[in-house]
Amino acid sequence: MREYCGVSGLCLVSSGQAALYLILEALKVLSPRRDVVMPAYTCFSVPAAVARAGLRIRLCDVDPETFDFDHELLARTVDSETLCVVATHLFGIPADMDRITRLCADRGAFVVEDAAQAMGGRRDGKLLGTIAHAGFFSLGRGKNVTCGSGGIAVTRSAEIAGAMARVYATLQPPTSFQTLGEFLRVLALSICIRPALYWLPAGMPFLRLGETIFDPNFPIRRLSGMKAGLSRRWRRRLEVSNDTRVRSGRHFGATLRPNASRTAIPYLRFPLLMDSRDRRDRTHAALRRLGVSLMYPTPVSEIPAIRWAYDGSRFPAAQRIADTLVTLPTHEFVSEPDRQAISHCLSRQRAGMAS
Ligand SMILES: Cc1ncc(COP(=O)(O)O)c(C=O)c1O
Repeated sequence: MREYCGVSGLCLVSSGQAALYLILEALKVLSPRRDVVMPAYTCFSVPAAVARAGLRIRLCDVDPETFDFDHELLARTVDSETLCVVATHLFGIPADMDRITRLCADRGAFVVEDAAQAMGGRRDGKLLGTIAHAGFFSLGRGKNVTCGSGGIAVTRSAEIAGAMARVYATLQPPTSFQTLGEFLRVLALSICIRPALYWLPAGMPFLRLGETIFDPNFPIRRLSGMKAGLSRRWRRRLEVSNDTRVRSGRHFGATLRPNASRTAIPYLRFPLLMDSRDRRDRTHAALRRLGVSLMYPTPVSEIPAIRWAYDGSRFPAAQRIADTLVTLPTHEFVSEPDRQAISHCLSRQRAGMAS
């Protein structure tokens, strides 16, 4: 994996958020700054990792066309307190790394790439996750390649790699009992990924599938040998998975967003904004049996445990995305007829929206 990523530093841990935590702990050693800038619309695991590292979460609104930062706002947010900016390739769509890297170089901040949803994707030929000072991938459920849960922290910098290795050395591997629990969970997940069985997890609330949780007390461990074993064919699996995701993205792009760029993006899911929350909810109700789902329920600023810190701040684009976004499945278990049914239903709805 080190060779594939072209990096010198790489650590395998229990989740993507644990990988981000590891990176943040390493950066803390290298700089006295304590603020982490992240998109106002992102996975709640990201602010949870920042909180766990004892750092301050600073939010920047996003561009609803690209899901990347609103770059003008970013330029006003990054300052002399910024330890790093978390550049996020949400849904596999590459963030504008040139712009973010240039801004952060001027202001003396690190850039960390959140490539949790973008493993194997590229921008200008460069592998996402490996462009900035450090980056991480997720091996969690529904990711480009998965072993149930897991995370990979990478860096090209010898200095960050050294600091990361020192933090990693303090982590424990899971106990045999924890490994058994992980194994049973992987088994349940591998069954539930089939569309015909989407109803099953609804009867297993203890799996907490599909929930967006903010929990700074998440486990931080090394990746188990069992999970590493389950991932041993990751490279071939990643290739097959991403080929399918590129094809699905092209299909949905051509039918639902004809003006969108034709770049080959391995969409983890294909994002689509509806014109209102009501229409979004009706679309979701009609298509959820085909794997159409919602994403994060609110902007990060509305997470109850940290909302107090953002009193008076507004993130209108993040709010609009939280209110109106549906995401379409792009993985290999979606059949061609299901894909056609999804785009047919959505094109009809969008024609209705336009008229
Ligand atoms: C954008 C993003 N960042 C970070 C994470 C955290 O990864 P993990 O679930 O492996 O902790 C996820 C996971 O869903 C994610 O989608």
